[in-house]
Amino acid sequence: MNALLTPAKTSIGKKAIMGVTGVLLVLFVLGHMTGNLLIFAGRDAINEYARFLHEAGHGALIWVARLGLLAVFATHLVMAFVLRAENRKARPVRYVVEDTLQASWASRNMMLTGIVMFLFIVYHIAHFTLGATDPETFKGSFDPRGTEKLEDVYQMVVRGFQKPVVAGLYLVAQLALCVHLWHGAGSWMQSLGLNRGKLRQTSRLMGPAIALLVLAGNTLIVLACLLGIVSV
Ligand code: HEM
Repeated sequence: MNALLTPAKTSIGKKAIMGVTGVLLVLFVLGHMTGNLLIFAGRDAINEYARFLHEAGHGALIWVARLGLLAVFATHLVMAFVLRAENRKARPVRYVVEDTLQASWASRNMMLTGIVMFLFIVYHIAHFTLGATDPETFKGSFDPRGTEKLEDVYQMVVRGFQKPVVAGLYLVAQLALCVHLWHGAGSWMQSLGLNRGKLRQTSRLMGPAIALLVLAGNTLIVLACLLGIVSV
């Protein structure tokens, strides 16, 4: 147990944990977006996909995945605060000029965009997983076939984003996610010491490339529903 906790005690270990949890979250975001883009393949495609996720391993697998994701997310968050506190302790007076010259706006605002993402995820789960914010459009309430609840994720998403305020909230969150990934989706290579030699350029370009890809994919879904390009 002690050996397991050792990395969390050193600064390099904490950065490595931040990097590994960051990669796992990036993979989740890319996978989630790919699945959600099935909305463009029609009602049945995305509903089949949702049913597959919920029924895989008789429903047990989704709980393993949910708890795993929660643990990864919580670790990433706690490490961010711990590392920030340590940095402040080590350097109580900030080198304003140096910081501004060397660090991009995205890297200096990781905490801010990270907190916006946290708030978004709380809202997003209340919206699409629990149906607390929009009970009338939750899951199968409007399923024209009148089958049980989990059936119609398609209509839940489309009707959800037909509301300008809801669509607006999602679009703002996608901008925050884009800025967060701009720095974070490449900086994990630095945290794991993988940004040397030929990999330096890859680590510099990876963040912006993934950030723009995720922004394009997620924004497309929201706008297509809001503008009626995809409808129920
Ligand atoms: C336009 C973009 C997005 C759409 C359309 C979308 C759609 C959905 C839907 C439909 C669900 C519920 C799935 C179900 O219960 O069957 C869901 C759950 C979830 N989403 Fe998203 N999502 C989007 C963006 C994001 C982003 C950017 C993140 C994270 C950064 C995220 C994180 C989650 C999480 C953690 C869950 C809970 C998973 C679970 O219930 O097991 N989503 N999303």
